[in-house]
Parts: sequence; C-alpha cells; structure tokens
Amino acid sequence: MAHTPEILLGQDELSAVVERLGRELSERHDDGVVMIAVLRGSVPFLADLVRVMTIRTSVDFVALSPYTPGTGRVRLVMDVATNIEGKHVVIVEDIVDTGLTSAFLIGELQRRNPASVSLCTLVDRPARRVVPVPIDHTGVQIEDRFVIGYGLDHEGRYRNLQVLAIADPTVLAEDPDAYVEALYGA
Ligand code: PRP
Repeated sequence: MAHTPEILLGQDELSAVVERLGRELSERHDDGVVMIAVLRGSVPFLADLVRVMTIRTSVDFVALSPYTPGTGRVRLVMDVATNIEGKHVVIVEDIVDTGLTSAFLIGELQRRNPASVSLCTLVDRPARRVVPVPIDHTGVQIEDRFVIGYGLDHEGRYRNLQVLAIADPTVLAEDPDAYVEALYGA
C-alpha cells in the first residue's frame, strides 16, 4: 500500500538552512577549515554545504560503526587521510541522536591536537540523547520523529530525496518501500 510522508523541509527550505549554516561557518573560520563528514548519511549535506561556504575548505571522511550492536560503543572503521594537527576541524553530521557517534568522534579528533573541533549537524533530535554533545551549528531541531531524505535513510532507501520527510516507522517496518511511490512516482 502506498503512503505519503509529511514533508518536514522542502527543497527551498533546505537550501535556506544550508546557506545559513554555510554563512555561520564561513564567518567563524575565516582562516580555513577541514570539513570531516561522517559516512554515509552526511554526504548530500556536505556537498551542498561546502559549495555555499566562502572560505578555504578541504573535505575528508570517516566511517564509524557501533563496536558491537547494542553496547553503545563506537568504532572507527575508516579514518581521515588529513593530518589535522593545528587545523580547525568541523565534523559534519546528518543527524545527532544518542550523541554517541559525535561524542566519540570529537574525542578521537581532539587527541590529534587540532586548533579546534566543532560539530555541525543538519538535524538534531535531542529526545534520543544518551550522552551530552556540544553542537555548534544546527540546521533544524526536531521532535522524536523518524526522518528520511537528504542523506537520511531507512535500510539504505530514500537517501537521495531532495527533501526531508517524516516517515512512520511502523509503516516502514511493514513495508520498507511504502513511500517509494509517493516520493519517486513509481
Ligand atoms: C547515523 C548518522 C550519525 C549517527 C547519529 O548514522 O549519520 O552518524 O547515526 O546517531 P547517534 O547520535 O545515535 O550516534 P548511521 O549509523 O545510521 O549510518 P549512515 O549515516 O550510513 O546511515
């Protein structure tokens, strides 16, 4: 059965959010910055964000995974290639939920003596927080709702949507493709 999700942020609203964040980052780091994106959900956000930034910017990537599912421990499975010592670093996340991923990564990067580490997330869902995490730049704060699109997925689906949409997790549990028809027209 086809379902239609509620659009949380359409294309224009997303562009406005990304432009604001790009401006904030450019004003704060006018001597350049290393953007470190957490694979895979942050890729669309990173790509748009760096293109509205007006300062020297390099990009790099990390991949993280829970050490053992359910333990809450996080493991670095792919490291950056950049030597970040003495550099200003911005972690780019699509979403901060429990905070475990970001808290781990901030600690990991800080051990490498960068000039600074800050955190920029498109979405903040504070209701799910387990550990406190300092977010320096937030796109949008949401209630405890499940969101898809613009990098955010359900079982790998929906990442390439140009909007952020609210999905019903019980609908997706029954049929992961429940929103495909409404969102992709097929
Ligand atoms: C998501 C998101 C963050 C993390 C946030 O990644 O991209 O990295 O979860 O969750 P937390 O605050 O509870 O730690 P996910 O593991 O879904 O991987 P993905 O980006 O490849 O979808």
